[in-house]
Amino acid sequence: MAESMKGLKRTHRCAELSAANVGEKVTIMGWVQKNRNKGGLVFVDVRDRSGIIQVVFEEGKSEAALIEKAAKLRAEYVVAIVGTVAKRSGAVNDHLATGEIEVLPEELRILSESETPPFHIEENSKTKEEVRLKYRYLDLRRPDLQRNLMMRSKVATLTRQFLAEEGFLEIETPVLIKSTPEGARDYLVPSRIQQGQFYALPQSPQLFKQLLMCSGYDRYFQIAKCFRDEDLRADRQPEFTQIDMELSFVDVDDVIEVNERLLAKLFKEVLGVEVSLPIQRMTWQEAMDRFGSDKPDIRFGMELTNVTDVVKDCEFVVFKNAIENGGTVRGINAKGQGGMARKKIDKLVDFAKDYGAKGLAYIAIHEDGTVKSSFAKFMTEDEMKALIEAMGGENGDLLLFAADKNKVVWDTLGALRLELARQMELLDKNEYKFLWVTEFPLLEWSEEQNRFTAMHHPFTMPMEEDLQYIDSDPGRVRAKAYDIVLNGNEIGGGSVRIFDQEIQSKMFEVLGFTEEQAQEQFGFLLTAFKYGVPPHAGLAYGLDRLVMLMAKQDSIRDVIAFPKVKDASDLMTEAPGHVDEKQLEELGIAVVAKEEKKDDAE
Ligand code: AMO
Ligand code: AMP
Repeated sequence: MAESMKGLKRTHRCAELSAANVGEKVTIMGWVQKNRNKGGLVFVDVRDRSGIIQVVFEEGKSEAALIEKAAKLRAEYVVAIVGTVAKRSGAVNDHLATGEIEVLPEELRILSESETPPFHIEENSKTKEEVRLKYRYLDLRRPDLQRNLMMRSKVATLTRQFLAEEGFLEIETPVLIKSTPEGARDYLVPSRIQQGQFYALPQSPQLFKQLLMCSGYDRYFQIAKCFRDEDLRADRQPEFTQIDMELSFVDVDDVIEVNERLLAKLFKEVLGVEVSLPIQRMTWQEAMDRFGSDKPDIRFGMELTNVTDVVKDCEFVVFKNAIENGGTVRGINAKGQGGMARKKIDKLVDFAKDYGAKGLAYIAIHEDGTVKSSFAKFMTEDEMKALIEAMGGENGDLLLFAADKNKVVWDTLGALRLELARQMELLDKNEYKFLWVTEFPLLEWSEEQNRFTAMHHPFTMPMEEDLQYIDSDPGRVRAKAYDIVLNGNEIGGGSVRIFDQEIQSKMFEVLGFTEEQAQEQFGFLLTAFKYGVPPHAGLAYGLDRLVMLMAKQDSIRDVIAFPKVKDASDLMTEAPGHVDEKQLEELGIAVVAKEEKKDDAE
């Protein structure tokens, strides 16, 4: 039976103790990390979220009954120990923050016993993630996850502090809202009272924060849960958290300025890292041309080179056809990789195909100057020479080329550049390279929908100087939109908003909304715009992504207490799950079983 903690009060967390506490009587409470019984001498490591302290039960110093009780302790028992802090009698443990000291106990209470856990609670667990997620409450005891969540809490607290000091008001916006798709698929919630109708969960508080600006709140922020029913990846969850903000009477530079100070404060106070301000800025066009990505990792070079002009007259059909079809030929130079094995190069070609490329042409320049190439036979010697020169190719280099429509070339080489950097170990997690990407295209052509869609969202302001093309050449219009990128990750994005009813209606028109559809979906916003709207702009960070990078993790699951897995389910609670017939009945919902649906289609 569990003992009571009556009469005891915790005085310290385990790792709050140090040599400065030697001689003090303390009470610690926590989990048994491990228990080593050396006959008459029992070492018990006690763990809490601060770390571990060693407790030593020793013949002559502790009563025999106490030593016997300690010997029975097993991993994950919850204990309370009263004792005196002493310098270690044995060797100092350099791996522990409390390695110089130990606690000599006079009382031990077992507050809770534990069955043998399904996996050992330890840093860098090798246990499969599925098992850890099923028992997430145990997984969350591991020191690495505890540090991540403590860091997350600190980031949230500092953000609140900073934004409050800057005059931002924290205002909550509703979670049951009207479905106004913003790019991803909505999560829907059926209404019981109005059967057949649905709420949507917000993909972001976008429209509400704009309405708050209409209402004069001036500077708003919220640490907001957002929901998007999209395919999951390491940096995407169906529910995630934004640090969301909106400001009135501002333009691009104002939003950037306050956010640079926020980022600098977070990195300084959480990591001790100085972010040098101002953060570098790059237009979207430059980012694509140089890095093949709108979120370039600028910790390393390996930039793209456009060699279209160099190869435009050559006989290599792959290059020729691409150029004739309005595409380009671009390459990257993987320095020092000229000796790469053919098999490994073939793997890169397969990798490129995943990004839509039909192939990857290469020139491998060996250290001795001999050249191996997949297309040299279609080129004259002079053409090869000119191409190598344009690429800055030297002995030992591997030159890789993609020829296609710009989008395919960028996607392929942008991804290849990152893959090579990983293989070449060019990525240093201790280095933080921030970048603002600005002047995004307003619109993006969707082959699937055969219409333009908003690249950021439909409320983003076109650049004034490009407004003239909105009817004649909409694809050319740039937006007052910006993303903040860290080490190749989009950690935040935002824009200056349209605050003019006419431009907003025009935007809906370009996006293919009829007047009625626009009214039906966004009527409240268009009406609000009739009653005096301040110019406004904003930004939202993905808090999970930001903390993932600060904590040097590879997945946002490692900075979310209870994350979901690839199929959007929660392995611990087993959500989503079936509901009672009665619940469905109340909602007027009949579920069509998947198999039946298949039959119908046949
Ligand atoms: P956006 O859609 O760019 O902008 O989202 C802002 C940031 O949220 C993060 N993010 C995600 N994080 C985890 N899982 C996801 N599924 C996910 N989707 C997005 C990214 C992204 O940069 N309302 C606008 C902001 C604005 O204009 O003010 C918006 O939501 O880090
Ligand atoms: P092929 O003539 O199809 O055998 O291609 C010759 C070489 O060009 C091979 O190394 C292919 O991988 C490469 N290649 C094919 N399509 C492309 C492309 N779109 N861009 C770059 N290289 C390509």
